[in-house]
Amino acid sequence: MSIQHAPVLTCTQLSWRHQGATILEGVDLQVRAGESLALVGPNGSGKSTLIKLLCGVLAASAGEVRLFGQPLSDYLRRDIAQRIAVVEQHSETLDAISVRDAVELGRTPWLSALAPWSAEDDRQVEQALQAVDLTHLSKRRWHSLSGGERQRAQIGRAMAQQPQILLLDEPTNHLDIQHQLSILGLVQRLPVTTVIALHDLNQALTCDRVAVLDKGRLIALGAPEEVLVPELLLQTFGVHAHYLVDPEDGTRLLRFRPAG
Ligand SMILES: Nc1ncnc2c1ncn2[C@@H]1O[C@H](COP(=O)(O)OP(=O)(O)O)[C@@H](O)[C@H]1O
Ligand SMILES: [Mg+2]
Repeated sequence: MSIQHAPVLTCTQLSWRHQGATILEGVDLQVRAGESLALVGPNGSGKSTLIKLLCGVLAASAGEVRLFGQPLSDYLRRDIAQRIAVVEQHSETLDAISVRDAVELGRTPWLSALAPWSAEDDRQVEQALQAVDLTHLSKRRWHSLSGGERQRAQIGRAMAQQPQILLLDEPTNHLDIQHQLSILGLVQRLPVTTVIALHDLNQALTCDRVAVLDKGRLIALGAPEEVLVPELLLQTFGVHAHYLVDPEDGTRLLRFRPAG
């Protein structure tokens, strides 16, 4: 984690309404420079909606998001893309293109008539392909990839974007266990601020802080083990939980049992 603690992203009373329904309500949240913040909550609690609001894909119905102190709505899309990369839960299909083409898209916000594609862009793309273990598949067509390979390509695209902030919506969802661990380790080691929606609460324990959403409201925010306590897990997720200690290295892990 960085020694800086200036908020890079701030939500103030952030709400999103859609067709008369309140999907997100009054979220106050400061994302700190360099931290990894896990976003957890049951299905439909608003994690994906919050991520879309944080990067301007959705506009707030009330309240605001600030990026480095400026309202997000004041930024041009390209200026946001130079600072924030997003890997969405359901990524668009890019049927006709190769893995390398998909990762090259990450360079788009940095290109212009005055800054055409250069050797530095090639270097960034190759580094990103290597980081997500896709160098050997770089010529493969998108439609021929497995769900996990697509997920890794999207993460590679986001890394090639060289953002200061990386927003990831359930990035480990389609991945085998080896790639889950390598992707999580990778994004936590990157010198960037990360907000990661996660279902696996044991993976959330490895982040710097955890934010819990329930029915569109932020109900807890803080150090993982202070937030993910048995009472909250029962109330919010409807499961009994307790901590176990790994005899190998003393790491504390959550174990769950069905309630009732
Ligand atoms: N575009 C939309 N239209 C209607 N309802 C939506 C839309 N986007 C999200 N929702 C609803 O908002 C709630 C929160 O959704 P979402 O943010 O996807 O939750 P999560 O990612 O935590 O599962 C859900 O009840 C979902 O059905
Ligand atoms: Mg979601």
